[in-house]
Amino acid sequence: MLPLSDYLDIAVRAAHAGAAILQQHRASPGELVIDQKGRNDLVSQADRESEHVVMDILREETPNIGLVGEESGGTPGTQLTWYIDPLDGTTNYLHGFDHYAVSIGLVAHAGATDAMGQTLTVDTPILGVIYDPNREEIFTAMQGVGAWCNGHRLQVARIGRLADALIAIGIPARDFSYLDPYFDALKAVLLHTRGVRRQGSAALDLAWVACGRINGYWEQGLQPWDVAAGTVIAREAGAWVNDPYTTEISWPHAGRVLAIPPTLKDDFLALVQPHLGDVLNRT
Ligand code: IPD
Ligand code: CA
Ligand code: CA
Repeated sequence: MLPLSDYLDIAVRAAHAGAAILQQHRASPGELVIDQKGRNDLVSQADRESEHVVMDILREETPNIGLVGEESGGTPGTQLTWYIDPLDGTTNYLHGFDHYAVSIGLVAHAGATDAMGQTLTVDTPILGVIYDPNREEIFTAMQGVGAWCNGHRLQVARIGRLADALIAIGIPARDFSYLDPYFDALKAVLLHTRGVRRQGSAALDLAWVACGRINGYWEQGLQPWDVAAGTVIAREAGAWVNDPYTTEISWPHAGRVLAIPPTLKDDFLALVQPHLGDVLNRT
């Protein structure tokens, strides 16, 4: 196994290569081939080509690590797995709303040895890279080392009260089965915070919690590649990041995520859990 910093360099290079493809196509969006994977779930030629170059670099440089990409699938490794979202924010991208990113996370599986030489008992994201090509911001983190944006150390905002917190959310767009309790929970959030934003990129929502632009991020219905990189980036900046409805999993790979400074966590959970705690599957 290479030092974690070598993996970070490789992932940064891969994220830049994927983003270069996105920005090339961005100049001529009318020529893109776009397919619908499901209701409100688009994929374009840009997503596929970006994933292709990212996967090629990771496969060549780290042949012993498992690879799972949003568009082409893949196989988790026994010790380590890369989770790749080659374009997080596809709907934004296709509408010319310039808020999207390439996200690459490395997850160490239970039984693997972490950076501190400890044997992990649970699967854990240990490295993350999120690149926002429009702002030219690269967010990176290594477990136990820290999180950075363009070389500056990240720290979640020091906010003592939910009333002062700006919260990013995801609004259900594909699974509408829990819409009523969701809006009850959202109403509680609206009434007790400074406001909410729905920006359309889970990866950037997590990165922005890390850098303190927003003070919490809450969504469900996500996939592991949406949150693998952002989880370690936000955690290394001091956020609590997990499934808000169960403590039985080690990172929010079941698609429900709350990322928030620890000082605000309990108050936020008290707002949403009464409405959604029993509605969502607990896996
Ligand atoms: C989506 C974005 C969005 C979130 C969706 C995700 P995609 O990822 O992260 O913010 O609300 O649930 O699927 O499809 O653009 O990679
Ligand atoms: Ca995504
Ligand atoms: Ca995507």
